[in-house]
Amino acid sequence: MAFYYNEPSHTFSEYLLVPGYTGPDNIPANVSLKTPLVRYKKGEKPAISLNIPMVSAVMQSVSGDRLGIALAKEGGMAFIFGSQSIESQAAMVAKVKNHKAGFVVSDSNVTPDTKLHDVIALIERTGHSTIAVTDDGTPNGELMGILTSRDYRVSRMTGDEIVGDYMTPREKLIVGGPNTTLSSANDLIWENKLNTLPVVDEKNHLQYLVFRKDYDSHKEHPNELLDEEKRLLVGAGINSRDYAERVPALVKAGVDCVVIDSSEGYSVWQAETIKWIHENYADLKVGAGNIVDAEGFRFLADAGADFIKIGIGGGSICITRETKGIGRGQATAVIDVAKARDEYYKETGEYIPICSDGGIVYDYHMTLALAMGADFVMLGRYFSRFEEAPGEKLVVNGNTVKEYWGEGSARARNWARYDLGQGKKLSFEEGVDSYVPYAGSLKDNVAMTILKIKSTMCNCGALTISELQQNAKLTLVSSTSIIEGGAHDVQVKRNDNTYNK
Ligand code: IMP
Repeated sequence: MAFYYNEPSHTFSEYLLVPGYTGPDNIPANVSLKTPLVRYKKGEKPAISLNIPMVSAVMQSVSGDRLGIALAKEGGMAFIFGSQSIESQAAMVAKVKNHKAGFVVSDSNVTPDTKLHDVIALIERTGHSTIAVTDDGTPNGELMGILTSRDYRVSRMTGDEIVGDYMTPREKLIVGGPNTTLSSANDLIWENKLNTLPVVDEKNHLQYLVFRKDYDSHKEHPNELLDEEKRLLVGAGINSRDYAERVPALVKAGVDCVVIDSSEGYSVWQAETIKWIHENYADLKVGAGNIVDAEGFRFLADAGADFIKIGIGGGSICITRETKGIGRGQATAVIDVAKARDEYYKETGEYIPICSDGGIVYDYHMTLALAMGADFVMLGRYFSRFEEAPGEKLVVNGNTVKEYWGEGSARARNWARYDLGQGKKLSFEEGVDSYVPYAGSLKDNVAMTILKIKSTMCNCGALTISELQQNAKLTLVSSTSIIEGGAHDVQVKRNDNTYNK
């Protein structure tokens, strides 16, 4: 006879936190959201921790290099999507790793004989008004000069003039040399009242531009997630098919951590992938999943996974439950797996962080997931709404939206995530293609979310995530009290339902 669970499985919206004692120290400024990313032994420190408990979903419409940079600057980590060629994924990883905070590779470059009307067209296209003039018009050509809007007056010119006659030439420029650091660049900028400092190598080839405004913004990212060489941290998604080729390329590009991305992770293929990575790249950390119960957790824990991802069917773009009839309410899955994780810790002395993946709709769902035992959450829809996400921004019916599509949709065709050996093809869809409301910059949105999480933690008397996990009091709510939870019995003036997301 089949096994039946006694209880129905529940999702986040069916739970609430009941406040605990709030003492004088329980203010948001005192709350730390630092959390382990990978397995560690009792008494030791994890090799990688996150400064905020958020990672981005392994998806084409979420985790490109731009989002990777923006998220690491705020203290989380992106997992660059794997449903692309090995070369392009490795190039994205390298872009995040090579991003030097405050150092920008010049993206508006011309040669000295470029006509001014072409420069003006370039400025209109890019919105950037500082133009590097190099011998061959490339970002790393020999630096000949810099042209800014202060160097020409459109109203007094025909447009046929050439840049070389108007730019500030190299000999009059103050530049940084090969060993320039952000702080020495800043000194030069301030001492010489510059807006932009070009940085060149020994052969006077342009390397970077440092902008005064970027130095200021660097100071605005106190949570930045950096490695020992002060490079941003980044992860990448892999699959259980081409790992022997993909992993070496990702490691070469500097990846900090990989995760096996699969809709269902309780499988022999995941165990084999983890084993291969541990044998060939002993230092590389590998997450695995997704699973939704203690049995799946135990299997991946024994296989050597460094963190384990929970969630089947709860994703906003996911139709797995409708197509295949598999899955489990996300809250119940997290609670069950957290229990198994704690037992494993008691038994072995090894703590394996768990990640709640998918189904986060309201910011408070993240706090619930953490209180239920998750160490961090993986988000797709949440990040897809931001400027830095790869999806196209467009206006639909008068609203600004971004595109967000599932990895199991016909658009992404990520067969490796869903395939069970039918031969490198997506046989049926498990995800949809959609629009989400455009929400602005990652930094502003993450700051607001973090503030909400910290405030709730203060209400619960917790200064750290582990205190929240140990002391939180959670209650299931009836369907009637769920209605009471939103604004009710009043006519809300703003009817877009964005006030609580
Ligand atoms: P969201 O944060 O609710 O949008 O869920 C994102 C998560 O959904 C991802 O991290 C994946 O685990 C999962 N996912 C991504 N694409 C698909 C799909 O096409 N079908 C089912 N699940 C998906």
